[in-house]
Amino acid sequence: MNRRELMQAASAIGVAGFVPGAAWAQGMADITASSLPDPSTVRETLSLDKGWRFHEGDIEIPWPSSNTNTYDWTKTGAAGGAAGIAYDDSQWPSVCVPHDFVSFQPVGKDENGAQGFRPRGYAWYRNTLRFEDSDRGKHIELQLDGISTLATIWFNGIVVQHSTSGYVSNYIDLTPFVVYGDVNTLAIRVDAHMLEGWWYEGGGIYRHAWIVKRNPVHIATDGVYAFPVKAGEGWTIPVEVTLYNMNADAADVQVASELRDASGAVLRTAQTTAQVPSLDQAVAKLNLSYDSPKLWSTDEPNLYTVHTKLMQGGRLIDESTIETGFRTLHFDANKGLFLNGKHIKVQGVCNHQDHAGVGVAIPDALWAFRLKKLKELGVNGLRCSHNAPSNVFLKLADRLGFLVMDENRMFNPSPEYLDQLKWMVRRDRNHPSVYLWSVFNEEPMQGTEQGAEMVRRMSAAVKQLDNNRPVTAAMSGGMFEPHNVSQVVDVVGFNYQQDSYDKFHAENPGKPMMSSEDTSAFMTRGEYISDRDGRHVIASYDDDAAPWGETHLHAWKAIAERDFIAGGFVWTGFDYHGEPTPLTWPANSSVFGIMDLCGFEKAAFYMHQAQWVKDRPVLWLIPHWNWKAGDNVRVMAMTNLDEVELSLNGKVIGRQKADLWAMNNWHVPFAPGRLQVVGFKDGKPVAKSFVETTGEPAALKVTPERAVAAGDGIDVLTVRVEAVDAEGRFMPLAGNDCVFEVTSGDIIGVGNGDQDSLESEKGNKRKLFNGLAQVIVQTRAGGAGTLTVTARAEGLKPGTGVVKLTAAQPWPYQAVTGPMQPLPKFSLSTGHEDALKAGSAPVVAKGDGDVTASANVTPYAGFASGGRLVFNGVAGVMSVFVDGKLVASKTDPAEAAFTAPLPGGQGARTVALVFHVRTGDAFGLPGHAYVTA
Ligand code: GAL
Repeated sequence: MNRRELMQAASAIGVAGFVPGAAWAQGMADITASSLPDPSTVRETLSLDKGWRFHEGDIEIPWPSSNTNTYDWTKTGAAGGAAGIAYDDSQWPSVCVPHDFVSFQPVGKDENGAQGFRPRGYAWYRNTLRFEDSDRGKHIELQLDGISTLATIWFNGIVVQHSTSGYVSNYIDLTPFVVYGDVNTLAIRVDAHMLEGWWYEGGGIYRHAWIVKRNPVHIATDGVYAFPVKAGEGWTIPVEVTLYNMNADAADVQVASELRDASGAVLRTAQTTAQVPSLDQAVAKLNLSYDSPKLWSTDEPNLYTVHTKLMQGGRLIDESTIETGFRTLHFDANKGLFLNGKHIKVQGVCNHQDHAGVGVAIPDALWAFRLKKLKELGVNGLRCSHNAPSNVFLKLADRLGFLVMDENRMFNPSPEYLDQLKWMVRRDRNHPSVYLWSVFNEEPMQGTEQGAEMVRRMSAAVKQLDNNRPVTAAMSGGMFEPHNVSQVVDVVGFNYQQDSYDKFHAENPGKPMMSSEDTSAFMTRGEYISDRDGRHVIASYDDDAAPWGETHLHAWKAIAERDFIAGGFVWTGFDYHGEPTPLTWPANSSVFGIMDLCGFEKAAFYMHQAQWVKDRPVLWLIPHWNWKAGDNVRVMAMTNLDEVELSLNGKVIGRQKADLWAMNNWHVPFAPGRLQVVGFKDGKPVAKSFVETTGEPAALKVTPERAVAAGDGIDVLTVRVEAVDAEGRFMPLAGNDCVFEVTSGDIIGVGNGDQDSLESEKGNKRKLFNGLAQVIVQTRAGGAGTLTVTARAEGLKPGTGVVKLTAAQPWPYQAVTGPMQPLPKFSLSTGHEDALKAGSAPVVAKGDGDVTASANVTPYAGFASGGRLVFNGVAGVMSVFVDGKLVASKTDPAEAAFTAPLPGGQGARTVALVFHVRTGDAFGLPGHAYVTA
C-alpha cells in the first residue's frame, strides 16, 4: 500500500469516522417530518407545543373562607387562581414545549447533587386554545407526552387530571368541557419538587403536547396492536383495534387493516365488522398474513406499516398507521440471544433522557443525533434506564436498528402503578425494536418473597397486553436468596455482579441471563492524568471504575467470553446531569459516559468501537501530543485490526498484536512532532491514526452536524465549536471563552462536557473544554434560506458554520390565542334591572332608545398599553365607549362576533356598551367577552 492508498483507507475509517449505510441514512433523512404521530386525512393531530405561558414557582390556589364561598369553591369549573379561567398571566413569558425549566436554573452547592445541583420546585403553565363551532361533535383529546414530575391539569377551571409520574403520558378527553367558537383555558401546575429518580429529572412539560380531533366513533389512542409472529413457514399479524364511541347510540362499523411495504404498496388486507356501544369501547380483531417479508434486524431495519381504516356506512371515519417489523427473537439459556435465528450479542448502552444545554427537553432531532452517535459506536442495544422513553426515541430505534429494553419506572403492582406499566406496554408493543420489558431496576425487595410476588403480578399484567417479548428485571443482588425475583422473570437481568455470572448459570442452567447494566467506569474527555480531588478529572485509559462496577474493557470481556450472557448494557452511553459519582461539588454531571454530555467521544468510544464494530476498520490513538520535554507519556492505540505499529516522527517505536481486552499500550518519552499508529490486517497496512504537537489556538472552527436542516422551527442541530492552531489542527488543550451568534435560528442550549462547569447552559456563551464546545440550534419557521453559526473568542479568528435550510411543512398547530381576561358582568341602565352577562341569552328591550351596559375593568398588566375587547357574540346595534370615548360601532343588528380596540391606560377603565334598541328587540352578549392583546 502506498502513501496515497493509506491516506484513502484512513479517511474512510476510525480517523474520519463512520460511513453510514443506506438503510441508516434513509432512516435519518425524514425523522423531523415523520415524528408527527399518526398522520391522517380524517383525524387531526395538532401540535400544542406553542402558546404556553410559564410561571416559575408555585402560586397558591385561593382557599375559601366563608360558608357561601366554600360551597362555590367545591363546584366543578370553579377552580380559582392560576388554575382557573380568569387569571392575570399576561406578563408570563411565553415558552414552547418541550421545556425543562430546571435546565435554566443555575447550579447551587446546597441543592441535591443527584439531581445535578439544580433547584427543581414548582411551576405553572397556561395556554388558551380556540375551538371553532365546526369542532362541535368531534372527539377532542389532549395528549401530554411527559410532564416532570407530578402535575395537576385544569381545563376551563375543571380539574381533568392528576398526573402521578413524570414518565407516563396523559391522554385526556376534553370533549365534554370544550366551549366552541371561543377560547378555552388550560392550566397545569407542575410539582417537580417530588422526585422519582436519583439522576437529573428536570421539570416541566418536557415532551410534546398534542390536540387530537377525531370522529365521535374512532380508533382509541394507542388502539392498534399489530405485531407479526412467525406461523410455520410464513407470518401472521394478529391485529387488535380498540374502538371508542362517544355518541348516544351504538355504532356499527367496518374495520379494515392493510399491510403496506416501505413504498406504501398494499400487500395484504383484512376486514371485519364491530359494534361499539355508546360511550364505551369495543375491540375488533383481524388477521393479516404474509409469507415473504424482508426481516427487520439491527443491520437491516426493514419496516412495513399496518394501516387501519374505520368506516361507517362506507364512509372513512378514522384511520391509524403504525410501523411494524418482521423478526423473531429467542433467548437460549446457554447460547444467548437469536434474532431471526441468527446469534446476536447485545452491545448495549444505558442512557437517561438528558443532554447538555436542554436537560430532559430533548428535541426529536437531538434524539436522532444521539442515536446516530450510538450507531456509529457499534451499539445495537438501548436500555431506557430507568423509565419509558419518548415516542420518537422508539421510532428512531425501529428505523435505525436497535434492540430496546423498555423499562418501567416504579416497582409496584398496586393499581395506580400497574396502570403506569400497562400504559407503557400498550403504547410501545408495536415497535420491532422493543425486545424486553423490564419491570424494575435494582430494588431492595428483589431477594424476597414479597418482591417475587410483586413481579409475578407485574409480569402477568404485561403478558395480558403483550406476549411477544420476555419480561426481565434488572437485579443488583438477591438472586441466590430462597425466594427471589429471578424465579419469576423470563430473563434474569444482572446489574454488575459479574463474579456471579458463572455461579448463577451453574445453579440455574435453564434460565436465560443478560447483563442489564455493567461497567460504571469513570473517564473525562480529553484528560490523560487523573486528578480526582483537585481538578476533578479522570484519565482516559480506562483504569477507574465504581466499586460495584468494572472498567469498560473488563466488563465487556466478562460478557463477551460467556455465550450464556446474551449481551450487556454499559452504564452509560452519554454522561448525564446529576449523579457525579465519584466526584463532589462542583462536579454536577456524571462521568460514566462513553461520550460526554454533548456526545463528544471519550477514549471509551474507540475502545468499544474496536470491540463492537466488525464491518470496517477501527483505529484510534490517544493521548494528544502536546506535552513537555521529559514527560514519559502513556500511549494507547485502539483497533479491531490484527496488529498496530507505533512511530514517532517516522521512527518506529514498536509493533504489537492488537489486544481487544487491554488495547495496545506504550510509554513514550515526549518529543514534539507526529506520533502515528498504523493498523495492519492480514499483514497489510489498512489504516492509520496520528496526533501532532500543535501550536497555540489561532482560530475557531465551527462544524454543524448536518449541512442541511428543515426551516420549520422544529428541526434542531448540534454544532461543534473547536479551537485550531494556525495550521488548522485541533487544539486539545484550549479553554477559550467563546461567544456565539446565529442567524435564521435560535440557540436553545450550550455545553462543553466539563463536569465541573458552573456556567449557564442557556445563552450564547461557553468556554471550550479541552478544545470543544457545543451549540444547540433550532431553526425558525422561515422556510428555505441559510442558517449561520459564528463563534468568536478574544484573540482568535472567528469561525462560521453554514447550514442550508429547506422549505419544510411545519406541523399543523392547534389554534392558540394570547392571554385572555374575561370581562365582568355589565350592569344595565334603568328600565332593565338584570345585569348583562357575557355568554347569556340576549335580553328583550322594554322600550325604544339607548340601553347602556357598563362595567369597570382593570386590564391585566400586559394590556396596560392597549389591547382588544373581543365579543364572541353581540346581538343588536351597539356602540362601544371606553372611559367615555367612542372606540367602535356595530351597525348590523344581526348576532355576530365583534372586536373593539381597548386604548392603553392605567388602573380601572369603564367599558360602556350602548345598544340602540326598539321595544321587543333582543340585544346582549350571547358569546363570551374578554380582553386580549
Ligand atoms: C446503578 C444504577 C444506575 C446508576 C449507576 C451508577 O446501580 O442502576 O442508575 O446509579 O448505578 O453507577
